[in-house]
Amino acid sequence: AIERTLSIIKPNAVAKDAIGAILSRFEAAGLKIVAARMLHMSKEQASAFYAVHQGKGFFDELVGFMSSGPVMVQVLEGEGAIAKNREIMGATNPAEAAPGTIRADFADSFTENAAHGSDSPENAAVEIQFFFPEGVCERTR
Ligand code: CMP
Repeated sequence: AIERTLSIIKPNAVAKDAIGAILSRFEAAGLKIVAARMLHMSKEQASAFYAVHQGKGFFDELVGFMSSGPVMVQVLEGEGAIAKNREIMGATNPAEAAPGTIRADFADSFTENAAHGSDSPENAAVEIQFFFPEGVCERTR
């Protein structure tokens, strides 16, 4: 099925000037960008976005990192977009990320793992609404 997923290029990958390289991988895999924005999240925004992880040991570090610099956020659309994006990103723990994946190439640590992608249709809907309440573009060409 055609799905949409939320993708974030994290502050460490933005700092490496890897935005273009990472977006190219999505496009090359057939995922279309239907919304995009760059922003520097506050701690409050990052906490709200990662609310499902509140109380976990890595939460404060994650929120600190995600609010440490600008991120590039996009909605990707395509056949099986959620799984496809996760495949292109590689494992969440970069130590386990397959060669040639975004995390293998651009991650610095488990927290600074270069990219985020929604893990389910339910979370994708919530995450897309979080950053793009006005909706996304329709791609007719
Ligand atoms: P992400 O896909 O953005 O979702 C939550 C993030 O928390 C995850 O990527 C990692 O960057 C981070 N994370 C998840 N689990 C751990 C962990 N065990 N140790 C450190 N960071 C983690």
